Amino acid sequence: MKVLIIGSGGREHAIAWKVRQNKTVSKLYCAPGNAGIAEYAECVAISATDLLGLADFAQNEKIDLTIVGMDDPLVGGVVDVFEERGLRIFGPSKNAAILEGSKAFSKDLMKKYAIPTAAYETFDQPSEALKYLASCEYPIVLKADGLALGKGVLICNSYDEAVKGVKAIMEDKQFGSAGDRLVIEEFMTGREVSVLAFCDGTHIIPMTSAQDHKRAKDQDQGLNTGGMGTFSPSPFYTDDVDQFCKKYIYQSTIDAMKAEGRDFVGILFVGLMLTEKGPKVLEYNARFGDPEAQVILPRMKNDLVEICEACIDGKLDQVNLMFEDNAAVCVILASEGYPEHYEKGFAIRGLEHFQNKEDYFVFHAGTKFIGQEVVTNGGRVIGVTATGNTLIDARRKAYEATTWVHYDNKYMRTDIGKAIEE
Ligand code: AMP
Ligand code: GLY
Repeated sequence: MKVLIIGSGGREHAIAWKVRQNKTVSKLYCAPGNAGIAEYAECVAISATDLLGLADFAQNEKIDLTIVGMDDPLVGGVVDVFEERGLRIFGPSKNAAILEGSKAFSKDLMKKYAIPTAAYETFDQPSEALKYLASCEYPIVLKADGLALGKGVLICNSYDEAVKGVKAIMEDKQFGSAGDRLVIEEFMTGREVSVLAFCDGTHIIPMTSAQDHKRAKDQDQGLNTGGMGTFSPSPFYTDDVDQFCKKYIYQSTIDAMKAEGRDFVGILFVGLMLTEKGPKVLEYNARFGDPEAQVILPRMKNDLVEICEACIDGKLDQVNLMFEDNAAVCVILASEGYPEHYEKGFAIRGLEHFQNKEDYFVFHAGTKFIGQEVVTNGGRVIGVTATGNTLIDARRKAYEATTWVHYDNKYMRTDIGKAIEE
């Protein structure tokens, strides 16, 4: 069969690596892809947001299955465009991807269906938001309603900071139209865990847990980023937490979406905060996490293509999802200055060290070829993943592998997964 992956990050590289293990896949394409993905797939120069261009390509090449990695095309309705043309595609339709596309929608859904989450209010007018903020306790959390590359969340420690935040989001439109509406949310404390789940509209099967490190610098300092490193499983995601989430969060979310006429097919990413009062939903995403995929997929025993097909066909209940009894750690190698200003175009050396090593993976994010040479082409450049018998073992190996890769302005956090040793 012929498969197309949409996206160009480390997540899509991990998906491509996994899809390649399916022996019935005779041809794999990725749009637009990157230098690492090119090892597994033919990269085609179509932007991930050119929905009609993607559908034309899939139609012309007779693609049997398309897997969407990124949020933008999903929220934009790529699944609807493909399905209208009778093309098989894995991901939520536009009216279900809104769970990620609008924080106001997802908060209202949780409230309506009593799914545990932080208290909140939604505002369309900056003046109303400011009035409300005058009566709040601090810290408080401001969230741009729409997609903002994982950066549209501001934690404000004082009224003055919040005033600046409202101005940045709603008036200066720092995150574009994502800031037309604002969600103001109660600040929660606790450990964060990401749980991703396969969904077929009716059934939901959670995968193993993972934990991301969103801030740019060690000890969770610096700005929020797309994610600087992950580990899986999370030792903080205990059996009790799992039972609670299965009972009150995962199935409830899918049932709620069904009740709203928005059947969710694809990957539901639940960002959880484990608070003193129990697990609460921080956010939903409608796709694999990046870099969560880079630690989850290397641990997954099942064939990814078969699961995607089962989800599309509404037969997820027939899948027995299994993970290796091991651990994985991913450290992101970024460009110094990310997520703000950084230079790119530097030659990357040392990638050959990863060849023929079963428990070390190099997943490219922002890379491209210039001639035969792989060069840096983004803020997050490469994710280095290692698996091991334990988290400590995997962490030691992942950091060992970071020393194999060289380029000018290489930057990484040195404390990914450190919490597991404390
Ligand atoms: P989100 O995109 O909603 O996951 O937010 C990005 C990050 O901001 C999260 O991973 C948390 O670290 C932080 N955050 C979001 N909402 C809250 C909240 N209500 N309380 C504390 N931290 C939050
Ligand atoms: N790593 C967080 C995300 O993919 O949104």
